[in-house]
Amino acid sequence: MIGLFDSGIGGLTVVREVIKRLPQHALIYFGDTARTPYGNKSAEVVAEYGLQAAKFLIDKGAKVLVVACNTVSAVGMEAIKKAYPSVPVFDVVAPAISAVNSQNKAQHVGVMGTRALVNSGIYQKLLNGGGKFKVTAHTAPLLVPLVEEGWLDKPETKRIVKSYLAPFKRAQVDTLVLACTHYPLLKKLITAKVGKRIKIIDPACETAQTVANWLVKHPEIDKELKRGDSHFYVSDLTPNFQTIAEKWLGRKITLEKVHLN
Ligand code: DGL
Repeated sequence: MIGLFDSGIGGLTVVREVIKRLPQHALIYFGDTARTPYGNKSAEVVAEYGLQAAKFLIDKGAKVLVVACNTVSAVGMEAIKKAYPSVPVFDVVAPAISAVNSQNKAQHVGVMGTRALVNSGIYQKLLNGGGKFKVTAHTAPLLVPLVEEGWLDKPETKRIVKSYLAPFKRAQVDTLVLACTHYPLLKKLITAKVGKRIKIIDPACETAQTVANWLVKHPEIDKELKRGDSHFYVSDLTPNFQTIAEKWLGRKITLEKVHLN
C-alpha cells in the first residue's frame, strides 16, 4: 500500500493524481479532519501531527509514504525520516521545486500557501538558493476552510480567491506554485483569475509523477504496493468530506474513523 496523509481533504488532490498514474496500486489515506487546519499551527505541533499520521499509516501496512501536505512537508520531514529510515518517504515540496526549475521561462515565482508553509521559508530558500529566481510568497489562510466546507464555487470563494491572487498579479509573477494541497480543488477558479500569462504549478501532479517514476526504478517495491484494498481514514467524520471526496475522486469510498495520539 502507498500511504498518503494531509490535514483533511487536500491530500486527495495527490490521491487523484496517483490513481491516474498507478490505478492498480492499493492506497491508504489519512485526513486529520479533527485537527484541520494545520497551516495556522506552530511548526512543532504540525511536525508532531505528521509523525502520528506517518506512524498510523506505516502500522497499517504502508510501504511507501507520501506526505500529501505542504505544511508537514515543510516542517515535519526530518522527524518522519528519522523515525522511519527504511521507508521511502516523498514530500510535495521537492517535486514542485523541480517543476519550477524545469520551466525555461520562469523568473519570478509566486508561492501561495498556508501561514506555517510561508513562514518556514522553504520555497524561498530552495528557489532562491541558486539565485535564479525572484520569489514572492503570500499566505491564503481562508482557502483551506472554504475547501473543507465544500465552498468550491461560491461567489464568496471567488471574491476571496481574487483578493489572494491580487498581490501576485501586482508583483507580475510568471509562475505560481499552489503550495497547499487543498488549492488544486480551486484550480479552475485560480486559473481563470490569473489568466494565461501565469504558469500554475500543481504539486499534486508533480508529486504523483515523481512517485510513479521512482516505482519504475524499484519494481520489487512496486509489486508489493499492489497488494490489498484501498482504505480512507479520517480523525472526524465530517459531513462534507465524503461528498467532496467522492466527487473529486469520481468513485464511492468508505470512510473509517480513527483516533490518533
Ligand atoms: N493541505 C495542507 C497543505 O498542503 C494543509 C492545509 C492546512 O491544514 O492548513 O499545506
